[in-house]
Formats: sequence, C-alpha cells, structure tokens
Amino acid sequence: MTHLPLSGQSALVTGASSGIGRAIALRLAEAGATVWATDITQDAVEGGPPVAEPLSEISPASCFVRLDVRDHAACAALCAKIAQTHGRLDLVVPSAMTPGRGSLPQTTPEDWKRVMGVNVDGVYNVLSGTLVQMRAQEPLKDVRGRVVIIGSQHGMVASPGGFAYGVSKAAVLQMMRQIAVEHAEEGIICNAVSPGKILTGKTGPAIAPEMIAYSEARTPMPRLGRPADVAQAVLFLADPATTFVTGHNLLVDGGWMAG
Ligand SMILES: NC(=O)c1ccc[n+]([C@@H]2O[C@H](COP(=O)([O-])OP(=O)(O)OC[C@H]3O[C@@H](n4cnc5c(N)ncnc54)[C@H](O)[C@@H]3O)[C@@H](O)[C@H]2O)c1
Repeated sequence: MTHLPLSGQSALVTGASSGIGRAIALRLAEAGATVWATDITQDAVEGGPPVAEPLSEISPASCFVRLDVRDHAACAALCAKIAQTHGRLDLVVPSAMTPGRGSLPQTTPEDWKRVMGVNVDGVYNVLSGTLVQMRAQEPLKDVRGRVVIIGSQHGMVASPGGFAYGVSKAAVLQMMRQIAVEHAEEGIICNAVSPGKILTGKTGPAIAPEMIAYSEARTPMPRLGRPADVAQAVLFLADPATTFVTGHNLLVDGGWMAG
C-alpha cells in the first residue's frame, strides 16, 4: 500500500468551498488527512458541486462544516471539536478571505472593517482556537502541530488599488512570524504560502483584462498560477518529512517577487 504523508492527521481548512482553499482541502485529503473543510457558504465561487462531494469521494471521513471565521467562539468550538474527535488537531490552513478594492481615500470605514474582519480577525480567531488545542497536545516527532497561513505577494509589495487587502495580507504574514517564533519551543510549526496571480475560475474584477495584463507582465513564467500549484506548496509545508522549516513565507508566484 502506498504511504500517504498525512495519514492519521486531522486538518482544518477555512475558505474551502472555492478556489485555492478548495484545492488545498482536496490535496490534503489525497495526502491522507481527515479534512474539516470549512466556509461561510457551500457555493463555489467558480461554480460546480459543493466541496463536500469531491472531498467525500477522496476521503469518506472528511467533512464540510459551515464556519464564519469572524465568529471567535465558533472557531474555538470547532478547533476543540476536531481535537476531541481525532484526539488531536494536526494542521490548520487559514485561507478564507474577502477582497477589498480601492486606495485609502476610496476605502470607507465599512470596507476597512469588512476586509479586516475576515482577512485579519478571521485568521486570528482560527489560530487562537488552534493554539489552545495544539499547545495542549503531546508532540509527535517533536511537532505539536502545523499552521500554514495563506498570504499573498500583495502582503509584501503594494497591491495596486487594493489598500485594505494588501494591508490585511501583510498583517497575516507578520502573524505567521510571531507564531513561528513565539511557539517554536513548544513544537508548533508556522509557515505561510504566498500565491502570486492564481486563476481560480473567479469572474469580475479579479479577471478584468487590465488585471490579467498587469499580472502577466509581472509574472516571469509564461502562465499564471493554478490553485493546485498553491495546494502542492501547502502540502510540502504540512508534510512531516519537512523539518526545521518555520517562519517561512513560500512564494508560489511564477517568479513575480523575484523581478
Ligand atoms: N487568487 C489569487 O490570485 C490569490 C493571490 C494571492 C493570494 N490569494 C489568497 O488565497 C486565498 C484564497 O483566495 P481565492 O482566490 O481562492 O479566493 P476565493 O474567493 O475563491 O475563496 C475565498 C473563500 O473564502 C470564503 N469566505 C469569505 N468570507 C468568509 C468568512 N467570513 N468565513 C469563512 N469563509 C469565508 C468564501 O466563501 C470563499 O469560498 C486567500 O487568502 C487569498 O488572499 C489568492
């Protein structure tokens, strides 16, 4: 029988109904994890069946749970439930996000709060529940648990016309470093994967011709990214065979940030 790297592990993914989060949930399940795929909705932004369908085909023990990452108590309760059900919470991947477009003067207090509420508070909420569980469990081969935060190249360089979004992504990359350093001694591994431009099947402003032209001009590789490119990088950081890597931001951007 083939050895699956995440066999026996539990994994929580947020924003897993669509796009990158969905690809991550399915990839982790293929790698043997029991995945708790969570989202505020079952509708996929790109269309198609709810993630629960392909997920249960890959891994019957995996499931979809509705979770609004803005709800701190619900995040804590779900982390506790996973730990109780599986005996431990091994891996958490916060990927849920909401877009925020416009420069600072174009960003209303409501826009700011909406973007920060999901992209920053949401990651804080999920990870505070995560750390409670991970710190309470015994290490397995020196590791109590792993976190892979989904950042963005736009948390490292300005997001043109995306003030609140760019600031939110910079914040979660710093959250990653804080957790990595503050909890290294406890055996909690925390990294980030920062995608460049990934074509997820989204419509609207994300694929406006000027946005695609800008992204293609910034991407040295002759194509834009796919959700599976990001999922594979998450799997690398989730794999127990990946050791001594923490506090790292792994770019999956076709070379965008090298230019
Ligand atoms: N697509 C890209 O080009 C790109 C580039 C860089 C970074 N990213 C990052 O990748 C991640 C996924 O992005 P995507 O492009 O797949 O987006 P997406 O819009 O396809 O998926 C985001 C998911 O988050 C969910 N969500 C929104 N608010 C929520 C809430 N309050 N609680 C729970 N779930 C909620 C949505 O329902 C959706 O399923 C994000 O963190 C994003 O910042 C994407």
